[in-house]
Parts: sequence; C-alpha cells; structure tokens
Amino acid sequence: MSSKINAAITAVGGYVPDTILDNATLERMVDTSDEWITSRTGIKERRILGDGKATSDMAAYAIQNLLENTGINPDEIEVVILATSTPDHNLAPTAPLAASKAGLKNAWGFDFNAACSGFLYALSVAASFIESGRHKKVLLVGADKMSAIVNYEDRNTCVLFGDGAGVVLLEPSTDNAAVLDTVYKSDGNGVQFLSVPAGGSAEGTSIETINGKRHSVIQDGRTVFKNAINGMTSTSKELLAKLNLTTNDIDWVVPHQANLRIIDSVGENLGVAKEKVKVNIQRYGNTTAATLPLCLWDFNNDFKPGDKLLLTAFGAGFTWGSTCIVWGELRNKK
Ligand code: COA
Repeated sequence: MSSKINAAITAVGGYVPDTILDNATLERMVDTSDEWITSRTGIKERRILGDGKATSDMAAYAIQNLLENTGINPDEIEVVILATSTPDHNLAPTAPLAASKAGLKNAWGFDFNAACSGFLYALSVAASFIESGRHKKVLLVGADKMSAIVNYEDRNTCVLFGDGAGVVLLEPSTDNAAVLDTVYKSDGNGVQFLSVPAGGSAEGTSIETINGKRHSVIQDGRTVFKNAINGMTSTSKELLAKLNLTTNDIDWVVPHQANLRIIDSVGENLGVAKEKVKVNIQRYGNTTAATLPLCLWDFNNDFKPGDKLLLTAFGAGFTWGSTCIVWGELRNKK
C-alpha cells in the first residue's frame, strides 16, 4: 500500500547585495525622475552586486542563509535547482558552482531557464522529485544578476531591474503542506518583445552586437505589460477553477514583482484584497527568477501553516503561469 507523498516548502533563505541603487542616483544616470519611476513602476530602489561577484555567489549566500537558519547539515542536500537567466557562464552550469561555493558535497545540480517564470516553473520540477520519492531534500534557488545584462544608458529598462537570490527547501510533507497544482503556459512568439538578443547561438558576439548594445535586455514595455496582466490573471483563474477553489479560499497572492501596476491589476482582476497581495518591489525592483523566493523569504512570518498561497509569474519567452501551494510549518523563522 502506498500513500501519496506531498512536497512541502520547509525552509526559506535569501540574499540581496548591500549596494543600493536608488531613484535619485538613476536620475543622474539617465533622463528620468523619481516621480516617473515611482508612479509608473512602484520601484524606489534595487540592489546591485557589482564586479567580481556572480550569480553563483548570490545563490551560495542564499543557500548558506537557509542552512544557518535551519541548522541542516549541508551533506544532506541531494539536489540544487537554480532558476536563472544570468548564469555565470554560457557553458558550464551555475548550479554546481553555487553548490560547491555553499559547501554542499553530496548535491547534484542543474540550471533552469524560464526567465521571470523560472522559479515558478522549477517549483513543479522540484516538487516532482519529492512526490516521486526520488529525493528527500531539494533546494530550489532563484537568482539573477540583472545588472550584468542591463544597459544603464537605456531609461526604458535600467530603472526596472535589480540583483538578488532566494531559496526554498522542499521535503516530503509531514503536515498538510503541499504543492497543490499548477497551470503553466508559454509562447515562443514573445521573444521579439523581450530578450537579450545577442550572445547566444542565434546571434553570437561581434563588434556590431557590442556597439549595438545587443547583449543587454531589450523590450517592448507596453506589450509585455499587457501580456503580463492577461497571462497572470488567466492562469490564476484557470488554476482556481481546476482546484475547485475561489479567491476567497486564497490567503495570500505572491506575484512576480515586475511592476506595481501589473501586480495591482492582477489583484483587481482576481478580486483579491490588496492586503493579501505581497509586494516588495519598492526595495528590490525586478530580480527576475529571484522575485518569488525573495517574497517568500521576506514575508514568511505572515504565512501560517495551512494557508493557501497563489504564486503567479510572467516573463520572457513568453513564459507564465500560476501555482497554488499550502504553506506548512517551517524549520526556520527569519
Ligand atoms: N523615465 C522617464 N520616462 C520614461 C522612462 C523612464 N525611466 N522609461 C520610459 N519613459 C518614457 C517613454 O520613453 C515614453 O515616452 P514617449 O511617450 O515620449 O515615447 C513614456 O515614458 C511612456 O512610455 P510607456 O512605455 O507607455 O510607459 P508605460 O506606462 O508602459 O511604462 C514600463 C513603461 C516599462 C514601466 C511598463 O511598460 C512596464 O513595466 N512594462 C513591463 C516591463 C516588465 O515587466 N518587464 C519584465 C518582464 S517580467
């Protein structure tokens, strides 16, 4: 007789760099204003990692933060999944490096790229490792050094992004905690509206790509904006219907932090009270794969065992979706 194994988030951790890039500093770098950035995006400041450190360092610091909070022996960690769009290198995955830097001796690891939806998508993969019985301790990290791929002469994009890393530990559930279900979508036609065009196999590196700033984020903000609101709203509604739940059953919405107006619109479309929607974009900006775990890290003291959390994200690809989880007892409290 076999009973179903559920996957529970049992610990959270995070790391953001000390260096703050605020709106006043951006006013001196490009033609913008604190008023414009605040009213159009909700962002007041973001963290910048600086030269000499990479995504693997932030991921390792976040993992170490989780391990220190919980007292878990690093040797017990079996897998590290690292959601990122800013790997240390094009060739050689970042997860093994992050695991080594964090002192994990027995973990295997791999990178997962789904842009701003990376953590959300990978949560399903990490949960499956637990639910199948294949693994008992899986770390899922979302980490991005967006400052490495942002053009700080382009006011359309440079105000939006920041650096950071968040991590959760997944284990077999011993209470009601579970990753209940997911609705994920993608549409490859979205690449024309949001990407780093050069540096991959489609368009290599040349003097033209460097001079043309094609190694930095380029986006059609309005198209991304509309698709993000529609995508996160529709997959959240589809997921609730699939689970036979209504928004009244949801205790917290944890949305990808790309723009406060996107977050507010999704909340309104779902009919969720503002107090239930978690927002920390004013402090970190859009940290891409790190926004969701950084929210879980920042707000875990508000979540009670048994609470239902609706996680939703939208990103380059396009990629988007929603996941519903039941929160459980954490090993650590921040
Ligand atoms: N400061 C001042 N003005 C700025 C500016 C800045 N930092 N960035 C853009 N503008 C200007 C534009 O040049 C434009 O000027 P124009 O009308 O003379 O051409 C004007 O502001 C309005 O631009 P628009 O694109 O309509 O603004 P918006 O209200 O859509 O806001 C974004 C722009 C980028 C903030 C918004 O579209 C957005 O957040 N999009 C989604 C981005 C995103 O989430 N990306 C990551 C995917 S997860």
